[in-house]
Formats: sequence, C-alpha cells, structure tokens
Amino acid sequence: MVNGVVCSECGEMIFSRYRHDFRLCGCGNVSVDGGNDYFKYGYTKANSSGEITTVELDTKYRELSSLTTLSNEEIKYVASHLKYDQTIYDPMAGTGSIAVVRQHKSVNVFCKEIEPEWICKDYDIDRWYIGSSTEPLQTDEKFDWIIFEPPNGDRKSDHANFSHSRGRHTYQEALDKDLHENNVARMNWGPTYRTTMQKIYKSLKQNIGSNTGIILIIQDNLLSKNSDVVEFHLEQIKDLRFEVEDFKRFNNTITPFNNDDIKLAYVFKRSSDEDV
Ligand SMILES: C[S@@+](CC[C@H](N)C(=O)[O-])C[C@H]1O[C@@H](n2cnc3c(N)ncnc32)[C@H](O)[C@@H]1O
Ligand SMILES: [Zn+2]
Repeated sequence: MVNGVVCSECGEMIFSRYRHDFRLCGCGNVSVDGGNDYFKYGYTKANSSGEITTVELDTKYRELSSLTTLSNEEIKYVASHLKYDQTIYDPMAGTGSIAVVRQHKSVNVFCKEIEPEWICKDYDIDRWYIGSSTEPLQTDEKFDWIIFEPPNGDRKSDHANFSHSRGRHTYQEALDKDLHENNVARMNWGPTYRTTMQKIYKSLKQNIGSNTGIILIIQDNLLSKNSDVVEFHLEQIKDLRFEVEDFKRFNNTITPFNNDDIKLAYVFKRSSDEDV
C-alpha cells in the first residue's frame, strides 16, 4: 500500500500517522492526510516528468525488535554525546531506530534511507529523505551530528555465501525484494563497496560544518577475517578532517553471529576548522 509521498522540491518524504493527521513537507509543496484509513496527497509542483513520487512504507509487518540493529546500550552511548535541541542526521537509517535517542535527549532527527520499505513508521523522525546517500541531500544544512551504522560487506550482503543456524538473513531476504543498485548492503567487502561508500562520504561533506561531530557504529564480525572494513571507515572519516574523541566496544546483542560478535562505536570531532 502506498502511504508516503516524496517532495520533488525539497526531497522530504512525508506520511500521515492517523486519520486526521495532515502533514506538509518542509517547503510546503506536498501534503498528506488520512493515515491508514484513506491515503490522500496533494502537491503544487510535480517533478520534471510531471509526476509525484510515492513510496510504500512498512510493507511487511515486522516486530520492532527484529528490525532494529541498534541496542539500548548503543543508543544510550550515542545519546550521552548529544546536547539538548541538537540536530542529528542518519544517512543510512534503515528503520529509523536512531530516533530512540530521544528517550534520553530531546534532539531533532533527520534520516535518509534507500529502501523505503525498511522505514518503521512508529519511529518519530523530523524529516525523512528517500534515496541513495551517494547523492547529496537536497539541503546543505550543517548538522550537529552525523550518526550512522554502515553495512559492513559481510554475511548479510546479497551475495554472501553463508548460512546461519537461524537461517540465512541477508537484507534482501528480509525485505523480500532486490535492493537498489547503490545499496551498500548488496555488496560484499571489496572495491565496489569502497567506491560506493566513498561517494557517500563525499556527499556528506556539504552537511559538515566546523562543529559537526560524527558517530560511527560498526560491526566487526566479517566472514573474511582479513577484511579491514573498520579501518577503511576510520580512514575515510579522518580524511574529512575528523579525529577520534571517544570509543566503546559493545557485545552485539541484536544480530549476534557468535559469542565474540562485537560492535564498535567511534565518536569523532573536527580536527581542523577548514572546510572539507
Ligand atoms: C546496518 S543498516 C542500519 C540499520 C539502522 N541502524 C536500523 O536500526 O534500522 C544499514 C542501512 O543502510 C542502508 N543503505 C545502504 N546503502 C545505502 C545508500 N547508498 N543510501 C542510503 N542508505 C543506504 C541499507 O538499506 C540499510 O538499511
Ligand atoms: Zn517540499
């Protein structure tokens, strides 16, 4: 069922939460109403081909806990670095579970995700964007924080030749459709993964100001023990003139593969005021 509309002007995706929940995008071009009872949308300007983009959200019912990849401990750690009323942006937001930080700190949350079907409507996000983060956001707003958990080119990629006692669970299988071409979650660790991630880092530059911080959360449990995916991300972020300010290890309690499955969180601050 179609229930979201993407604004061709500001890029924001909006949806109506309940019957009389009327919403406008940030620039006022598109509107939605009707919740799940009746879906209604309006717009002033369509895109260049005279169309308006609609998306399907929450297409498969899944329990929140099985969607979310951030544990409460990780969320609490992230929240401990945020200040009241700051803006945070997750360019690979999945369900949007980063919004749970709001239980600990009142902040403004912006998210982008390439597969709209992942989006869980229960999470309270200020602004959703749909599409690949290899493409820059339609706003060059400088965020206080950019916080994300990238796929790590591991057993969950489409091409992973792997089975787990709980079954194969690639993103593709969980979503029950092919992922978009630029989705890093399709890719095993390798040159394509790296090139795509580099494009994402490049696109993020326009949203980095002199006070922006970055929080990277990443699983360190690749099939190939020789992979240096964590090092790769650390280097990309340092190249954007950031340095590690804080670091923590977590037991992976959400999607563990074995007992020593861990997740790492790195908090970065700018190492230089210069533009990136
Ligand atoms: C490890 S998951 C993040 C999950 C999220 N923390 C949550 O709790 O749901 C990585 C997400 O990045 C998304 N992704 C991968 N490539 C992307 C791209 N090029 N642009 C935007 N999102 C992308 C995937 O679809 C996936 O949802
Ligand atoms: Zn708009």
